[in-house]
Amino acid sequence: MSSDATEADPRPLGDGHGWVDTPDEKTTRAELVARIGEQQRRVAFAVGSGLGGKVDRGQHQKQLLGAKATLRLVDSIPSPVKRGPFATACSLPVACRLSSGQPCPFADTSADVRGMALKFFSPQGSETDILATNEGGRSHARNAETFMAFADILVSRIENGTSGAVEELLKELRGDKLTVGEVSRMAAILLKEVGLHRVHSLSLESYWGSVVKLGDAAFKYSLHRHPETLPLHDSASDGPEYLRQEILHRLATGPVKWQLAVQLFVNENDTPVHDASKKWQSVPSVIGELEISSIPSEEDERIVNQMAFNPANGFDPLGITHARADVYAASARNRAGRGLLSSDAARQYLMA
Ligand code: HEM
Repeated sequence: MSSDATEADPRPLGDGHGWVDTPDEKTTRAELVARIGEQQRRVAFAVGSGLGGKVDRGQHQKQLLGAKATLRLVDSIPSPVKRGPFATACSLPVACRLSSGQPCPFADTSADVRGMALKFFSPQGSETDILATNEGGRSHARNAETFMAFADILVSRIENGTSGAVEELLKELRGDKLTVGEVSRMAAILLKEVGLHRVHSLSLESYWGSVVKLGDAAFKYSLHRHPETLPLHDSASDGPEYLRQEILHRLATGPVKWQLAVQLFVNENDTPVHDASKKWQSVPSVIGELEISSIPSEEDERIVNQMAFNPANGFDPLGITHARADVYAASARNRAGRGLLSSDAARQYLMA
């Protein structure tokens, strides 16, 4: 991964400035907050979800790995975002939760988005969360409303007893059965980025976030395979828990690392703030390194699974992230009955 714009890389670097923000209306956000609660309840009571009537995460319910890790930030961070949590070069303890995207557990062999969530407390003390998925630098949805409309369809499939809601939709798309405008557009993105992209190891994947802001600079963060991380030839990529087993297998012999990068806003065409389904064209700059050094304990896994991540922690929201901020907070409140770690408890755990 390039650490800066070079002559060989024709993509613009950008300075993060010049964006226009039009957040979702308050009423839309309130409606989405109500919708996530409804989805969580429907999934909890769906017979095949395995949740036994107890409300859980509205999305990304299946934890693939929950670990305490280290985030090392370099000094050479692009100046527009060298502030807040990225102000100083440092090494920080961080919680890392790797997950599958759907609201109840399915076999790892079933097509799905995979996610990475990080939580750390900056040297200034602010709680900061990084949330990213492996959808090729974009989301399947342009905005929060279409994201939730698609999630409604997945929830209906779960209620009907599917063994993999995304997998089922992708099969229908391949069979030309899914043709309703925006829904088929979202399914087509998922087919390209998820259905046709086989994940052999979570450590070899890249994960991208949605647009956020520090000061006046709009940017996206992303995590990428570390040059030291290589494919393994002795690990199976089948079985319902193969993604977890593969990463545990790697951790048994040494650390697993990713590079953290940022892409700055250039203009609405190349780096759209208002359409999350488009990949940003600006060049990524590496700003740090994430390392999980060993197999996490059962206690680490349990604690990380109780954390509440929110893309507005540590950054100012922009575009789709405004609505996400409200919906994640609601999803976390709704699932508190399963045990939810407060920010203070997360700080104590990480700083211990
Ligand atoms: C590019 C866009 C998006 C990315 C990168 C993303 C990423 C993630 C990740 C990584 C998680 C797992 C967090 C964890 O491990 O606890 C997550 C959870 C979640 N996401 Fe998203 N997401 C996106 C868009 C959305 C949108 C548009 C919505 C709805 C408006 C949404 C709703 C949720 C909910 C409800 C959770 C569970 C929150 C909780 O209970 O803790 N996401 N997302």
